[in-house]
Formats: sequence, structure tokens, C-alpha cells
Amino acid sequence: MDAMFSSCGLQTLPTEFAWSPPCLRALTAIQRDFEIDDEKLKRIAARFEEELYEGLSKHGENLTMEATWVHGLPKGTETGSFLTVDLGGTNIRVCWITLRGRGCQPEIVQKLSHIPEVVKTGEAHQLWGFVADSIDHFVRERGLHCTASSPLALGFTFSYPVRQDSLTNGRLKTWTKGFDIKGVEGEDVVSQLDKALRAKDLHIDVVALINDTTGALIASSYMDAETVIGAIFGTGSNAAYMENVGSIPKLKTPLPPDTPMAINCEYGAFDNSHRVLPRTKFDQMIDRDSPRPGEQTFEKMSAGLYLGEIFRLIICDFHDHGLLFKTQNVSRLARPYTIDTAFLSALESDTLPNLVGKFESISGVEATLGEVQLLRRLAEVVTTRGARLSACGIAAICKKKGIREGHVAVDGSVANKHPTFKSRWAKALAAILDWQSDRERDPIRMVGAKDGSGIGAAVIAAMHLRH
Ligand code: BGC
Repeated sequence: MDAMFSSCGLQTLPTEFAWSPPCLRALTAIQRDFEIDDEKLKRIAARFEEELYEGLSKHGENLTMEATWVHGLPKGTETGSFLTVDLGGTNIRVCWITLRGRGCQPEIVQKLSHIPEVVKTGEAHQLWGFVADSIDHFVRERGLHCTASSPLALGFTFSYPVRQDSLTNGRLKTWTKGFDIKGVEGEDVVSQLDKALRAKDLHIDVVALINDTTGALIASSYMDAETVIGAIFGTGSNAAYMENVGSIPKLKTPLPPDTPMAINCEYGAFDNSHRVLPRTKFDQMIDRDSPRPGEQTFEKMSAGLYLGEIFRLIICDFHDHGLLFKTQNVSRLARPYTIDTAFLSALESDTLPNLVGKFESISGVEATLGEVQLLRRLAEVVTTRGARLSACGIAAICKKKGIREGHVAVDGSVANKHPTFKSRWAKALAAILDWQSDRERDPIRMVGAKDGSGIGAAVIAAMHLRH
């Protein structure tokens, strides 16, 4: 028993929480399946780098490396007020953003609303009706005027993979993050939004269609010239960085090769061909039961939407083997996606007695303190793997671009709210890039890009309108 305790790192547990030998064996197996040691991390990052090149070279690769038509970083002198809409995986945020130049915090007036489940799995007209309604309410409430002769300029952040051939259009390639709305894939999302706005007599012109990662990159650069990458570790997972047109062989454009172009990597799709990621049976179950099996392999192992679900599948498995909640009714726990990543954050920051109550209100299951302690350990296993994988994509971009120092501007619920994600991520990045981690002094380190999607859309709109 002692050996098992020490191999699981659980020596400090009080004896009354000692788990049964079968339980410890199951835990040890889970730890083994989810562990990604430093060598494996390096192999994953190396393959990631290859996929970055493949995606820039040809269409149809795992990483679609989308050209965003954002040509360069802001100067920091962009100013003005802009309407922005950010349609993410969980919320829609409509903002009125006033830029005053580098050195002055942008002023943000915003309205955040939850995207209803019916919209996420409904029809195109419901989605765009919902988006146009949200804009309409905001514009009225704020008394913003738009007329045919003086339309409002809108920066639209749409955080799904789109193929763009200019800043103002983009065809949705596939839904991600559990969205499954009919009639949008293959279509230009700007035309669809325009139509819904016109139907409401709203004179609003989309002047920039952007991804949330591009937003984070540009918003952060606006304030901080050391920004090198924009990333989202939230419901989904992805990053954007700056290339030169000449390094994007698949792009047919008359632009000179040294023209800068922000690239939205769409790296949630890394390893869709299953060459390197150590998928567990739980990852396979998530994929199989998702609306788009076979897609977003990396995202399904590392992003916020899925971490809670991986954890739920593990504890259901423990229950099925008689290792947890023996006499309890687990019918609520058996429902997919009942546990979200916020609970995993709580497991690593709250006290055991509080967690018993929280877990019961989420799942209807009355767990013992010892069981909650086991849940905490399982949560650590799942989120540690998520954080370590999240470092691979960023390390790959740094290696490809020869970036040796700078700031990775990050937004998203996992990075912002999980208590240990950032430190685990920093440790993994250091292991791949071969330095000793000291978060404050790491040459490449994560900085917050809160509200990056909105501010980035405003800055890009300003950059575009100035030309
Ligand atoms: C989307 C990306 C987005 C990421 C983070 C992914 O599911 O495909 O476009 O940047 O989520 O929101």
C-alpha cells in the first residue's frame, strides 16, 4: 500500500481517506494513461511544428493555417469608437469600444449574454436572428445612431474555422465546440449576418471578420509591443501569430512576399490523423459522441469544453467498477456534460467539505470526503494533461518562427479561472524549450489578453478603416 501511495504522490492523505487497493490500482492506471512526460511533450511539439508547415503549404491538411488578411501588428496610434460582436463558444458579447492609443486603456461598454442551447443546435436563421437581436438591443439601449448614409462599422469576432479571401468575408468550414447549426457550414458568415441586420433595418457594416486568437494577438500588441502570439485556452483552443506571405506557399496572391499576414492556426485540429497524441478510451468516447467525430482531436483533449466531460467519464467508469459512490443514484451524473471545467477549478482550490456540497448540487451524488479527495486527484490528472498539451502548440510556433522571447497573449476561461493551469503550462513550455521555469522571468511567458476578442476587433477595424 505504501508503495502505491508514494507512486501516486498521495503520502500526505490522512488514513481515514485511504482508498481500497482496487481504487488505487484504477487511479494508478489513469495516471499512467494521462501522463505526458517531457520526452513525449517534445515529440508532440516536434510533430506540431511539422503540421504548422504542412498547413501553410497545402490546403486540406489537419491544421488549416487560415490567412486572416490582417497585415501586420498595430502601431498603437489607432483611435476611434467601434461596435464589436464576439460570438464565442458560450457567450455573445456586444461592445462599444473606444480606443485612445497605446498607453491608455480602451474604454469598453458591453453586454454579455449566454447563447441558448437551442441556438447552438438549431438553424442558421435562428443563430443570425439571435445575433442581430443582441446587436439591436445594444444599439438601442446605448442610443447609438446608424443610418443608411452613416452606418456603424462593426468588428465581428467569429471564433470558428473560416476560410477568408479578404478581411470582410469568410466561409465556415466546420462547426466546433459542440455547435451544430444547420445551413451555415460552407456559407459566408458575413453575408448571413448582413442579411439578418438588414431584415431589422440596422445600418451596420461588417468591416472586419476576425478570429478570437487574432483578436488576442492584435489587442495585446496594441498595448504591449512584446506580444508574439495570441492564444485562447477557453471553451476551445487555438492560437494566431504573424507570418510573411512568402512563407505561405498555398496562398495565391499578388501581395509581395514580405507582406505580413496574421495566421489563425486552427490548431484544435492538430493530429486529426492520430499519429502522436496518446488518446485514452475517454478521449475516444468524447470524439465518438460529439457532433463532428474525427475533428478537433487536440481540442477535445485539452480545451475547457471537454476537460469536465473527460473527468465525468472517468468517475462514471470508477462507479461502474464499484470504486466510487457505491450506493448512490448516479442518474444525473450519467448525463453528458453535467460537469463543467469550473468544477475542476473548484476541486483544486476549495476545501473538501465545501466540495462535497458543490458536487452534490451538480450531480445529486453525496460523496464522502475520501471520495472527494479522489475526485481532486483525478481532476489534477485531467487538467495537468490539458495544460501540458496546451504548451505544445505555443512551443511549436516559437520553434518555427525562432521566437526566443516575448509575450503570449492569452484569453479564455481555462487560463483565466483555473488555479494551476498557468503554472503547469509554463513548466511544460520550459521543458519543451529547454529552460528552467521561473514564471515571472521565463523568456516566453503568458500574459492576460482579457477582452482581447472585442478590443482586437476594434483595433483591426481601426487599422482597416485608416487605409
Ligand atoms: C475554433 C477556433 C477558436 C478556438 C478558441 C476553436 O474551436 O475552431 O476558431 O479560435 O476554438 O475559441
